[in-house]
Amino acid sequence: MKTVKVGICGLGTVGGGTLNVLQRNAGEISRRTGRRIEVVQIAARSINPQCDTTGIEIISDAMQVAANPDVDVVVELIGGDTVARELVLAAIDNGKHVVTANKALLAVHGNEIFARAQAKGVMVGYEAAVAGGIPVIKAIREGLAGNRINWLAGIINGTGNFILTEMREEGRAFEDVLQEAQALGYAEADPTFDVEGIDAAHKLTILASIAFGIPLQFDKAYTEGITQLTTADVNYAEALGYRIKHLGVARRTGSGIELRVHPTLIPEERLLANVNGVMNAVMVNGDAVGSTLYYGAGAGMEPTASAVVADLTDIARMMDAEADCRVAALAFQAEALSSEAVLPIADCESAYYLRIQAQDHPGVLAQVASILSERGINIESIMQKEAEEQDGLIPVILLTHRVQEVRMIDAIAALEALEAVSTPVIRIRVEQLN
Ligand code: HSE
Repeated sequence: MKTVKVGICGLGTVGGGTLNVLQRNAGEISRRTGRRIEVVQIAARSINPQCDTTGIEIISDAMQVAANPDVDVVVELIGGDTVARELVLAAIDNGKHVVTANKALLAVHGNEIFARAQAKGVMVGYEAAVAGGIPVIKAIREGLAGNRINWLAGIINGTGNFILTEMREEGRAFEDVLQEAQALGYAEADPTFDVEGIDAAHKLTILASIAFGIPLQFDKAYTEGITQLTTADVNYAEALGYRIKHLGVARRTGSGIELRVHPTLIPEERLLANVNGVMNAVMVNGDAVGSTLYYGAGAGMEPTASAVVADLTDIARMMDAEADCRVAALAFQAEALSSEAVLPIADCESAYYLRIQAQDHPGVLAQVASILSERGINIESIMQKEAEEQDGLIPVILLTHRVQEVRMIDAIAALEALEAVSTPVIRIRVEQLN
């Protein structure tokens, strides 16, 4: 049986999980691939006590793994996009295949990395970069290859979903839940990446690229975090039959592609609205298949390792095949990628939840309604609550039909200019996902 030799760079949560899964399931993997996958070298700053590294050479310099003539595949699990970029490019230049879980690296430098890999005739696997253990890259690139994909929407940051779930179900404080997510190894090294939507935007950038056949364009993604969400809005949303989720949305429209991450109201009966804790889920809508849903653990040691190992098995099977028999790195042939524009957020379209804290005067609701109607914004429902604060302001909660964001920005400016409105209008986008 042929042996495929692997060098792992980084033996933290995902690196340790990868080694353990490769060792524990070695028999199953060989039965599937007809190959033996052997870890011959590991670059790590320290030994992971959860791993058995007996018989494996341990070094501290990851670049030595990229240069090791005995290594066929370099697994990059060190994170970040500086050293990791150098490592991945060096490995490719040395003719090695690469597996990475590094969404930040691919979202920002992926076009360069995939071009270099194609020139060198090597593969770069990145299933673990999006939605942890869910094989959503494979599903979109291969399983849905017969479709023209219309849109996708996903909960693709486990930490953020864990925080929102605990806040809603247990009434826990934001900081407290974030610390737990960090202790469990879910959160990014810089947790603002999780709560400000940057991590989700990295992943959405990759998903949009393989769904629509466009280059990776992280710099065009619109990103809004969850740090400003209040319990009041979570509760009002529930009263209206919605849950608030931190959603990544990529949609093909007649004028370009929407690429946006933001808190979103979703009808509570949608499966996606019921994805809780650290779990992730991605809905993909294709013209032939309709809507599909992929659900599973979006972070964590072995779920992410599951995806890394799946890439290793693909590479083990395909490394001797002609390059043009392999699945294209970004799902579409590199020369067939489209230049369709990613739309600025002002040109994107969605429905809206608005909360206006207004003085309780006759005629205020009529003023609100006329500002919206003058801009062609159709109100779907309106709810007025009792004043909850000492200030005597009453919350007016509105749901609108879909409208281009630029019109909503203009309407909010007009609402905030009303004498009866003295605090900023809260605006959260709404997606029906049907
Ligand atoms: N910080 C990420 C998350 C890890 O919470 O989803 C997985 O990419």
